[in-house]
Amino acid sequence: MKKTIKTISVILIITLIMSITAFAEPGFAYKDEVLTEFSPRWSQIQADDTVISVTPGATVGELRFAWLSSSTDSNPAFKVSENSDMSDAEEFEVVTADAIENLKSNKVTVTGLEQGKTYYYSYTENGVWSEVQPLTVQSADNFTVLYVSDAQIGRSGDETLEEILIRDTCGWNYTVDKMLTAYPNAAFAISGGDQFQSPDSLVQMKAYLSPEALRSLPVANTIGNHDDDSTLYGEIFNNPNEVDELMPSEAGTGYYYTYGDVLFITINSNNNFMLDTAKVLREATKAYPDTKWRVVTMHHNPYSASLSDDDFSEERLFFSSLYDLYDIDLCLSGHDHFYSRTDTMYAGKITDGEGTVYVQSSSASGSNYDPLPESTASFTVSAFDVRVPTYTAFTFNDDAIVGTTYRTDTNEIIDSFEITDNTTDSDVNFFTAIISFFKTLFSMI
Ligand SMILES: [Fe+2]
Repeated sequence: MKKTIKTISVILIITLIMSITAFAEPGFAYKDEVLTEFSPRWSQIQADDTVISVTPGATVGELRFAWLSSSTDSNPAFKVSENSDMSDAEEFEVVTADAIENLKSNKVTVTGLEQGKTYYYSYTENGVWSEVQPLTVQSADNFTVLYVSDAQIGRSGDETLEEILIRDTCGWNYTVDKMLTAYPNAAFAISGGDQFQSPDSLVQMKAYLSPEALRSLPVANTIGNHDDDSTLYGEIFNNPNEVDELMPSEAGTGYYYTYGDVLFITINSNNNFMLDTAKVLREATKAYPDTKWRVVTMHHNPYSASLSDDDFSEERLFFSSLYDLYDIDLCLSGHDHFYSRTDTMYAGKITDGEGTVYVQSSSASGSNYDPLPESTASFTVSAFDVRVPTYTAFTFNDDAIVGTTYRTDTNEIIDSFEITDNTTDSDVNFFTAIISFFKTLFSMI
């Protein structure tokens, strides 16, 4: 795969050391008045036991929904209309399954939606129809995706304390508000994992889904190490094209979907059995072999700025070798709680345009930050460890993936780049896989 990355306005290495005395509490980056204004919403957020999640469908024109309800909720229902008064609404089948804490998981897949059109939906909450929610299907031409990671509600302190949960939830709501103010017509968002601190916490799950804007913005969520050990993730998110894996997490598996000319593949990087990851990549690229762009999301970053040039991480050796093989243009990650971006990487080395760019988001809520090492590896082009949440807007067009990263407190752009593609498809087989693995291995020793 040949690719050139052109940096429009590069901040080569931003390692600003900022005094945390500017912040009210460690890990929280906003002014006291934001928290004061938000706090009264907490009881209302926790009272909403049937808050709904919206997820991108298998392709544009499909959307997926999931919510939890009481196990005694005998007949959950869901309807969609082109009119805000819900006239001429169409009902869609609700598929139910047992969920944690004696609850029921309700999932709906809506198909046949048209680009550029606004729809309205409602669902039953224990027999009562919910408030009607609008949702616009954005055009798949020249569309924008908002990337965040590690909202990790409950991470900033003792997660049993309400004040900690409120603070993290406030930070997450603030970030969602900021990015949708800047990009009101974003097609959807991607979260790179660690949505909650504890994988089975309904309180944290409701807090994560609490931004009202998320009723109208699909989000593709990723299994982080904090989401891994419970079935809750798979009960509240209705992911498309889940791939049957031999060693799935309790939370679930990898999955894939397309939007326009982009194939998005979500990997469960807690599963280190590489045949599973290879299977997800193979199934996804077989189903959609001709998309111009291929984007992977995985929670752990093979080329985080916290890692050295010769780091012997399994993520780099195994996962990134597969990304070389499957012509992945862009890999999105999180986990390390600071922003970083690499040069184009192939077989463990920086290239002059052939390979994958790795972008890692900071905490989306401000619940936790990690420091950058004193010196970063040669592959790190941009890094930012100021204790402020970041998000990156990716716009996909015929010529480039345009990335713009913002700090949420000032809306200042901290990184800006383009990935342009000159790819020719590689021929993936057993021998090319072995060669790629050893090339990466030798680059590390
Ligand atoms: Fe993590």
